[in-house]
Amino acid sequence: MSCKENAIFNGSALVLSLLLLALVNEGEGCDMFTGRWVKDTSYPLYDPSTCPHLRREFACKRNGRPDLDYSTFRWQPHNCKLARFNGVEFLEKNKGKKIMFVGDSLSLNQWQSLICMLHSSVPNSPYNSTMQGNIRTFTFEEYGVELKLDRNVYLVDVVSEKIGRVLKLDSINDGKNWAEMDTLIFNTWHWWSRRGPSQPWDLIQIGSNITKDMDRMAAFEIALGTWGKWVDTVVDTKKTRVFFQGISPSHYNGASWGEPTAKSCFGQKEPLLGSSYPGGLPREVGVLKRSLEKISKPVTLLDITMLSLLRKDGHPSAYGLKGQNGYDCSHWCLSGVPDTWNEILYNYMI
Ligand SMILES: *[C@@H]1O[C@H](CO)[C@@H](O)[C@H](O)[C@H]1NC(C)=O
Ligand SMILES: *[C@@H]1O[C@H](CO)[C@@H](O)[C@H](O)[C@H]1NC(C)=O
Repeated sequence: MSCKENAIFNGSALVLSLLLLALVNEGEGCDMFTGRWVKDTSYPLYDPSTCPHLRREFACKRNGRPDLDYSTFRWQPHNCKLARFNGVEFLEKNKGKKIMFVGDSLSLNQWQSLICMLHSSVPNSPYNSTMQGNIRTFTFEEYGVELKLDRNVYLVDVVSEKIGRVLKLDSINDGKNWAEMDTLIFNTWHWWSRRGPSQPWDLIQIGSNITKDMDRMAAFEIALGTWGKWVDTVVDTKKTRVFFQGISPSHYNGASWGEPTAKSCFGQKEPLLGSSYPGGLPREVGVLKRSLEKISKPVTLLDITMLSLLRKDGHPSAYGLKGQNGYDCSHWCLSGVPDTWNEILYNYMI
């Protein structure tokens, strides 16, 4: 190649890479998790009253929540635009596929949201809903798309033995059928800090070491390591796409959003409209990210913590399961914030 030809070649390579960069920026290459909430009255994506089997704990409107602005915000990343959720396209692309959420009630929250989003796109399309053991399945019959939920709050095993219920930080035997799915979305965090009567184990085991208790953040990290090894050894990531839902934040302490007099999320009607949260990210997010980096196979983090932190207005508060007797500032109203998690999931999946 002559000097001149070389220069032309380099020039066109540069144009080509700039073009590619621009294309990537539109899709997965873009940081979907840094941005802000903007008012957009073309949202919500569905009317929750049309949603099949919407559970009471998320049905804020039905439970009498008077303000409904919380469902009319759209997440706007700084450097790109999210593709608007298209339920028909989602169902077409996932024809015959099995999608499973594995985790606690925040997984239930996201699973219900996705069912609502899809059903409202094809309201006349037949569906059925079944339960087998721990696993609920919602099937869009025409498309053969199965949306599954496996309630499993720690991901690692809890086994009843003579000595009591043992939380086994280095064992995943429960997850045998997970690897058969086409898409998996995992989540665990909220149960790691439970103590007292609602703690569903008596002892913690690591290898042959059995202990009454230990630092919970350390236990969480060990369990994530076990889960990561499970992904690396068991999942064929060419066949199964693996996501981690990320840490869904709670809002019980107004000081963390700059309103020290607020003792819960009750009465919050507006999101924070900036891009950062005064109280910063919770420590478990760092632990999670560090654990995901140790996994060799591709796992996509739905890094929804910051965008959800900004949504102190999105929780059921007095319009959840316990009403006035227990403000719920952990779960999310539907329609609402989990619809955005799913819109981001959709942007990865199409
Ligand atoms: C649900 O729909 C699927 C797909 O059409 C079908 O195979 C399955 O038998 C149905 N289950 C029930 C309980 O109706
Ligand atoms: C067992 O685990 C506990 C809690 O992590 C630790 O303090 C202790 O040193 C361990 N014992 C052995 C023998 O490894």
